[in-house]
Amino acid sequence: MTAGEADAAEKHGSHAGSDFVVVANRLPVDLERLPDGTTRWKRSPGGLVTALEPILRSNNGAWVGWAGVADADAGVIVEDGLTLHSVRLSTEDIADYYEGFSNATLWPLYHDVIVRPEYRREWWNSYVEINRRFAEEAAKAAAEGATVWIQDYQLQLVPKMLRMLRPDLTIGFFLHIPFPPIELFMQLPWRTEIVEGLLGADLIGFHLPGGAQNFLYLARRLAGAQTSRGNIGIRSKLGVVQVGFRSVRVGAFPISIESGRLDQQSRSKAIRDRARALRKELGNPKKILLGVDRLDYTKGIDVRLDALHELLAEGRMDPKDTVMVQLATPSRERVDSYVQMRGEIEKTVSRINGEYAEVGRPVVHYIHRPVPRDELIAFFVAADVMLVTPLRDGMNLVAKEYIACRSDLGGALVLSEFTGAAAELRQAFLCNPHDLEDVKDKIQAAIEVPREDGRKRMRALRRQVLTHDVNRWARSFLDTLANTGAAGRALIAPDEVGEPGQG
Ligand code: ADP
Ligand code: F6P
Repeated sequence: MTAGEADAAEKHGSHAGSDFVVVANRLPVDLERLPDGTTRWKRSPGGLVTALEPILRSNNGAWVGWAGVADADAGVIVEDGLTLHSVRLSTEDIADYYEGFSNATLWPLYHDVIVRPEYRREWWNSYVEINRRFAEEAAKAAAEGATVWIQDYQLQLVPKMLRMLRPDLTIGFFLHIPFPPIELFMQLPWRTEIVEGLLGADLIGFHLPGGAQNFLYLARRLAGAQTSRGNIGIRSKLGVVQVGFRSVRVGAFPISIESGRLDQQSRSKAIRDRARALRKELGNPKKILLGVDRLDYTKGIDVRLDALHELLAEGRMDPKDTVMVQLATPSRERVDSYVQMRGEIEKTVSRINGEYAEVGRPVVHYIHRPVPRDELIAFFVAADVMLVTPLRDGMNLVAKEYIACRSDLGGALVLSEFTGAAAELRQAFLCNPHDLEDVKDKIQAAIEVPREDGRKRMRALRRQVLTHDVNRWARSFLDTLANTGAAGRALIAPDEVGEPGQG
């Protein structure tokens, strides 16, 4: 549609555009500027893109987001059944809205204040302004009566802003990170604005019932809304918040991955061959331990390295038998806490290698760049023990990806109790990342697990991951939204409790 057509459509009270629109901070691809002045697109980092891209492609939807670099004038691009609407951010917007309020205020606050959140008024002002920019772009991209699905903590004001611009839309919101305990959320100087922003949606989704429950309490306390009071169970109940004449539903929708596709890919001969080659390149050790993360202080990369170091020092692990591979995608590299953490992790890696490596045989292989998808799958197939040790994580898709790749029923997963995934993956070697002795014990148990016990655990884990894939997650959220969008505009008794689509 041209700008002229869009204006004409607006004048006649109709909106051309897409019937299904996702709004997220990032587009599924980042624009990369190469040294020779040319540009190319590359997959953007993180679990949100992993989860949502397949859903949008199969729905011919539109995606509103930032292209990942300053001042990108990408406009509207149609690619492979997907319409991408790029939102322009200046260098200053990136510093204040993205690195500042999103990743130095909200990210640490929502992750148990692992580092101290900074509360700066100029960052907040930028967050409001950029949320408005996303809402305006979404209003342009959506057809009359469309469904718009807003994603994550960077855009919590968009639901209310968009509803004011386009009351005809059905609006969903999903938070991909944990929603914090009430007493931590109450630190935020703009807590009421955030809660009211979210209440612009018809349906607000969290990974876990606890997050939904916390939000209901805060809606009562900060927005003065009437709410249902029943306990929100993981697969049974929705909460309801009454906002004037509208009812907003609140529920838990644990996200997942395209597990069937990953299972198929991991069975291919090319991947199997590559997994064998990787083992060989690593010196055919008895055991390969693997970590795969964005380089983020929430992920507990330091925890697993410290555990490894002590296991080696105590002689409970032999450096001749065991190697660890840590794949770490660069992330938020201009935020101070990330710069500091990277330095500490790299120091620990070199210390372990300094003490235990032989020439040509490092104990820890550390790769600080994203790995191509097929190579990553081959690593999952090759690894004997997967280390997922976050101090706090909304879900953690890596844990589910590893399981989906183990059709051989081999491998063992060490998983932090402080991930959303731990609620579903009970047969993993669950550990408390704050208790180093526990982490060490669980790593050792995973390394030494008897074959039959290991296969039994992996079979149960695979049953969960293969039957609860990302399609089921999206269907569950979108079916619930469809049932609440139009109906939600009618008055619903505050104590009414509905059933989400998830079975
Ligand atoms: P987050 O969303 O916080 O980054 P998740 O574990 O939920 O964490 O999702 C991370 C996604 O990024 C997964 O799909 C994972 O495979 C991918 N990923 C993480 N690290 C790497 C890496 N080093 N190379 C390639 N992909 C990676
Ligand atoms: O949900 C986690 C998340 O912040 C997503 O919003 C994002 O896609 C991913 O992590 C990667 O983070 P960033 O976009 O800051 O690189």
